[in-house]
Amino acid sequence: MSFRFPNEFLWGGATAANQIEGAYNIDGKGLSTSDVQPFGTFGELKTRHQGDFNIKDTAIDFYHRYPEDIALFAEMGFTCFRLSIAWSRIFPKGDELEPNELGLAYYDKIFDELEKHGMVPLVTLSHYEMPLYLAEHYQGWKSRELIVFFERYARVVFNRYGHRVKHWLTFNEINISLHEPFTGAGIPRGSDPQSLYQGMHHQLVASAKAVKACHELVADGKIGNMMLGAIQYALTCHPDDIFAAMQENREWLFFGDVQSRGYYPSYMTRKFKELGVELDINEEDKEALTETIDFISFSYYMTGCVTTHAEMEIVDEKVLKMGSNPYLKSTDWGWQINPKGLRIVLNLLYDRYQKPLFIVENGLGAVDKVNGQGEIEDDYRISYLNDHLYQVGEALQDGVEVMGYTSWGPIDLISASTAQMSKRYGYIYVDRDDNGQGSLMRKRKKSFYWYQDIIQSKGQNLQPPV
Ligand code: BG6
Repeated sequence: MSFRFPNEFLWGGATAANQIEGAYNIDGKGLSTSDVQPFGTFGELKTRHQGDFNIKDTAIDFYHRYPEDIALFAEMGFTCFRLSIAWSRIFPKGDELEPNELGLAYYDKIFDELEKHGMVPLVTLSHYEMPLYLAEHYQGWKSRELIVFFERYARVVFNRYGHRVKHWLTFNEINISLHEPFTGAGIPRGSDPQSLYQGMHHQLVASAKAVKACHELVADGKIGNMMLGAIQYALTCHPDDIFAAMQENREWLFFGDVQSRGYYPSYMTRKFKELGVELDINEEDKEALTETIDFISFSYYMTGCVTTHAEMEIVDEKVLKMGSNPYLKSTDWGWQINPKGLRIVLNLLYDRYQKPLFIVENGLGAVDKVNGQGEIEDDYRISYLNDHLYQVGEALQDGVEVMGYTSWGPIDLISASTAQMSKRYGYIYVDRDDNGQGSLMRKRKKSFYWYQDIIQSKGQNLQPPV
């Protein structure tokens, strides 16, 4: 079967400021939580000392090289580019009343460049980082005061860029804090459920306030949430496993439920009781939550299994502790590859929310080798992306409304979980290694031409998975 994706479907790639920009301490930027995580967002927290090496300090130097990179995206035919604004560039400490003009001016230039190439910006307000000062002096999102700071930041950027940035996301993978609270919320790892859920509640309220601000300040603006869409299957058809899988999936769907319906789902009442969590939710919070998102966005890389009784191996020890699925292969980093699962997630989310969906991350982290002719023949990446995009085509036929697809890391960037450069996702190779050595030169991979063809053919050249 061959598909022709809708004309308005947005095609592109996705990035995050701390994984591409570098320039971590210039033009008035404050330190962010990512700047003190040299081993990756999922690694141990380390105090930053003078002279410490953190590969993200330079990353791929997008801060200075953005015209070249955006031109390469345009050459591939991107109609959309997802980026995040580093909150600490705009409010270096996070609690100031006035923004940093140099930080604001930097993103003006990025948007100028995107406009020049006719690309729609999709902007994440907070992607795995926040001003470090807020984590150190306010206990991160555990503090209610952050709602005010975040809303102020959101209003500043909507006012500044709202005339030309129409697509926004609030918190990247908002459900990550259940696994890595420092990365998502500036709350120490190992914190008790009360602190975690209170912090996440503050983020949900802040997200809703940003949605309201966007609706007020950005004419024709659309704002979505962003969830880590790692669906869990029951390992067996034993009813206990089916129930366990339902409960596991509620761990992430809970966020979408609040953000798209405007109130806490009833199943959380029992959960909070069992965990001994008593949330501080006031009337103003409840009112704020009623401002709901316009679309649902999510990342999709892998799926897992759960069981209450059978033997099961754990495949991704580092991040999500996914149960092994005997029918699937894994990447070199233990992420289980499941293209059909993307069609399942798209259908599930559309059935549940009846809102447009946007796949804002998907891709294969792999080691690439430059061959004797200086080429990078990344057929494994082409096959991964083809098979996933084919399932998007199927989901469109199923009647699911999909706004677009931005694959993760269209240009090689620093891995969030491991801070490796060698875990590459790009269509564009960047000459830099895990120790920071290399010329930073950019090079088109084989997948560059493949994606260009897929975009140009509006998906018609996708091949049925073999
Ligand atoms: C998502 C994050 O979880 O996965 C990105 O939003 C991240 O920031 C991506 O980079 C891939 O993960 P990793 O660890 O391979 O970089």
